[in-house]
Amino acid sequence: MAETRQWRLESRPVGEPTHENFDLVTVERPEPGPGEVLVKTVYQSVDPYMRGRMRDAESYAEPWAVGEPMKAGVVGEVLESNADEFEPGDVVTGELLWAEHAVADADELRTVDPDLGPISTALGVLGMPGVTAYWGLHDIGDPTPGDTVVVSAAAGAVGSVVGQLARLNGARVVGTAGSDEKTAWLTDELGFDAAVNYTETDDLGDAMAAACPDGVDVYFDNVGGPITDAVWPLLNDHSRVAVCGQISLYNATEVPTGPRKLATLIETRARVEGFLVSDYEDRWGEALERLSRFIRADELHYREHVVDGFENAPDAFLGLFEGENIGKQLVRVADYDGDSSVQNGS
Ligand SMILES: NC(=O)c1ccc[n+]([C@@H]2O[C@H](COP(=O)([O-])OP(=O)(O)OC[C@H]3O[C@@H](n4cnc5c(N)ncnc54)[C@H](OP(=O)(O)O)[C@@H]3O)[C@@H](O)[C@H]2O)c1
Repeated sequence: MAETRQWRLESRPVGEPTHENFDLVTVERPEPGPGEVLVKTVYQSVDPYMRGRMRDAESYAEPWAVGEPMKAGVVGEVLESNADEFEPGDVVTGELLWAEHAVADADELRTVDPDLGPISTALGVLGMPGVTAYWGLHDIGDPTPGDTVVVSAAAGAVGSVVGQLARLNGARVVGTAGSDEKTAWLTDELGFDAAVNYTETDDLGDAMAAACPDGVDVYFDNVGGPITDAVWPLLNDHSRVAVCGQISLYNATEVPTGPRKLATLIETRARVEGFLVSDYEDRWGEALERLSRFIRADELHYREHVVDGFENAPDAFLGLFEGENIGKQLVRVADYDGDSSVQNGS
């Protein structure tokens, strides 16, 4: 009997998630039914939104059930197919399981073209985070040349793409990140005009004001909390705030009451808008086409932070809340030797 391993949700975290919340189980490898495909996971994504799915609360993403395998974005190879659309050896992506093998309906999978870049990018710069950056920045932030664009968690999967796209739009780009290694990557390699290590400043408000002498026209907020509080007083008239994520609050057991800064919006007539990448399902291909063109032209760079071994998937997830990743956090579950030569990641 062929076996496979899955990570299941053992318990719901209170505050910071820990290893105790995860359970690694060995099960019989599933067989694909009619119209289904058996996929071997090569890369598994871990993402901040998964923290919300560990909660037993209504949200835009359904909560995971305790005792059941968790779901994740996966890139993998088709091992067996009972669907006309796929054959063994095809590389596919979709929302599968935290598992070494999983069965999926053919219509839940999308083909990954290994000639566009390393297949891992289908979970990062050429996947959900890239599309989030592309539409959140262009549709909501709407930067014009000369604008100052600030992005938080700027060295992460979404933030690093946002900053580079804003630069390509002719904006002055400022990022915040949690280490000197990250801020150096932003300014030295990605072309950010300034970057602030928020963990090393005595006064974050002063540091942000110094980095944004002409104020802020677009704030792409991945983080919330004290970083957002420091950006708020710098908002210019008719500025735009794209609220993408609030990772600084995801492990909070109660929503903290922060400074009340809404009066700024009256003075500046700034527009604040939250969004979900799923709002852009119909425009997914358009974003990917533009992003892959920038990568091929060497105008958009990316990094991936790859943790090796399926058994280390919870470590990769927990690391997101410690800022361990530079670029997209991934888990390499199996080897793949068909990657193309289009690479500008590191
Ligand atoms: N709206 C949507 O549809 C959508 C889609 C995708 C992602 N998102 C959101 O976008 C944000 C970024 O996602 P991502 O996948 O690109 O993750 P990521 O930025 O690659 O990784 C998370 C990063 O958040 C930072 N962080 C963690 N805890 C923090 C804290 N307490 N305060 C400040 N920064 C903290 C860390 O970087 P530092 O070292 O810099 O602190 C960490 O590396 C998340 O909030 C996510 O939920 C939203």
